[in-house]
Amino acid sequence: MDKKKLSGMRTLSAALLMGLTIPLGAQNARIKIDIDRKIGEVDKHIYGNFVEHLGRCVYGGIYDEGSKLADEKGIRLDVLEAVKGLNVSITRYPGGNFVSNYHWQDGIGPKDQRPPRMELAWSRLETNRFGTDEFVDFAKRVGTEPYFSVNMGTGTIEEAQQWVEYCNVKEGPYFAELRKKNGHPEPYGIKYWSLGNEMDGFWQMGHLNAEDYAKKAREAAKLMKLTSPDIKLVAAGSSNYRPNADPNEWNATILHELRDVVDYIALHMYVGNPDNNYYNFVSTPLVLEERTRVVKGLIDREMEQADRGNRPPIYIAWDEYNIWYRARNEETMAGTRALEEHYNLEDALVIAGFLNAFIRNADVVKMANMAQLVNVIAPVFTNETGMFKQTIYYPLQLFANNVHGTALDVLVDCDTYDTDRFFIGLGESTTQQKNVPYLDVSATYNNGEVIICVVNRNKDKAITTDLILQEGKFTGDFQVFEVNGPDIKSGNDFGKTTVETVQKPALKVKAADKVTYSFPPHSFTMLKGKIQ
Ligand code: AHR
Repeated sequence: MDKKKLSGMRTLSAALLMGLTIPLGAQNARIKIDIDRKIGEVDKHIYGNFVEHLGRCVYGGIYDEGSKLADEKGIRLDVLEAVKGLNVSITRYPGGNFVSNYHWQDGIGPKDQRPPRMELAWSRLETNRFGTDEFVDFAKRVGTEPYFSVNMGTGTIEEAQQWVEYCNVKEGPYFAELRKKNGHPEPYGIKYWSLGNEMDGFWQMGHLNAEDYAKKAREAAKLMKLTSPDIKLVAAGSSNYRPNADPNEWNATILHELRDVVDYIALHMYVGNPDNNYYNFVSTPLVLEERTRVVKGLIDREMEQADRGNRPPIYIAWDEYNIWYRARNEETMAGTRALEEHYNLEDALVIAGFLNAFIRNADVVKMANMAQLVNVIAPVFTNETGMFKQTIYYPLQLFANNVHGTALDVLVDCDTYDTDRFFIGLGESTTQQKNVPYLDVSATYNNGEVIICVVNRNKDKAITTDLILQEGKFTGDFQVFEVNGPDIKSGNDFGKTTVETVQKPALKVKAADKVTYSFPPHSFTMLKGKIQ
């Protein structure tokens, strides 16, 4: 039974005795907002994304040579428009598992002379017709900052240095001149670089143990920074949370070894609903939050002894996160149609939950990248004749375009539920989640405006909620945006949009310190209003 149900029943019988009507099935809650209770500044780079040479993310996704929907450079214009709507601040490239056997020089120069290679991570033929220069051009057109990942698997530290030289050195040395010769006179100024991908994973080509990884990453970082001193470096934190792994041992070791060197530690998380348990599934963002807190503790411990000059502490980059469990068997993880997930409303609620979790940890989470941008576990899905926006597109779009400023620590008082210990995606089991609030909330304050993001996890009941301002008054109407659908399993498809953002009638506010709103079942709502 819900924790508050008993007292709710008492209220109900008292109300019936007094002849009052209480809508059956409703719940009540309070959210208290205090603009002095600051968590940290929301970094725009939490609205990042990821493009990997995998399935149809690049070929047939952003780049589709010969398609009627592409321009003369092969860029799909319908995809470009949809991606622009996501206001993607930073985009990681070119992998993922792909990068651990990628040699960047294969992807530059005249296209017809680039070598086709066996792509071993996802079993494809890699033509290399899309590479560094094409990605930088795409990123410019989208208005997103490129974030490159170097090959720490089969690659060398010298190769990493040469890539930085190609991208960031104006003129003189061989690779800078090669970029110019390839038609790009100005350096690209790529600021963000990650030192490999998921190097703790046994599946990674060139997988290393923590000590060996730290040594290689430190030396690569040295050469890369000598080449371009202002770059920011991201260490590959643990992605392996399977039962026999020891993810925090890895994280502790690399943080210790690289504490003076790197700017971020990367973490990855994919969740799913393999046993079709809605309440377990929608509480998975709390698992991400739990992992964030643990790694934050490890960072804090190392920062006490670190020698970082006046650089800020190491931050967390959740540089891969999403829902991925349906397209996760031998057949759906290989070839040109790999990892094509078709999302529904419950998935969109989980994404809103992840984004809320990033906001609630804005002091330490300074980058996050949805994996991935197009077709491959992605918000945008194409075929030869068009595209559609998946359900998960909408919460990401709302956050990326509205939630900026200072994250606030809000009090949420609502009914809760407990989950069992359960599996997220494949192979990883969670600890039991206790007291999961039906309302998942974040609040941000930006230039006199408060933005409140609320997932009502309750599948069946609306939750009538008092939004209480601790000091000052809400003024003017609140804009209300909602992502919802007829059913938690509703999804979108070509020519069919069932789940999307709907702007609801404004919430009328008469200068007051309290407004009441009823959050519908299985919904994500964003409220935006002025305060004085
Ligand atoms: O995003 C799909 C894959 O998931 C990435 O290539 C890898 O880094 C992770 O395991």
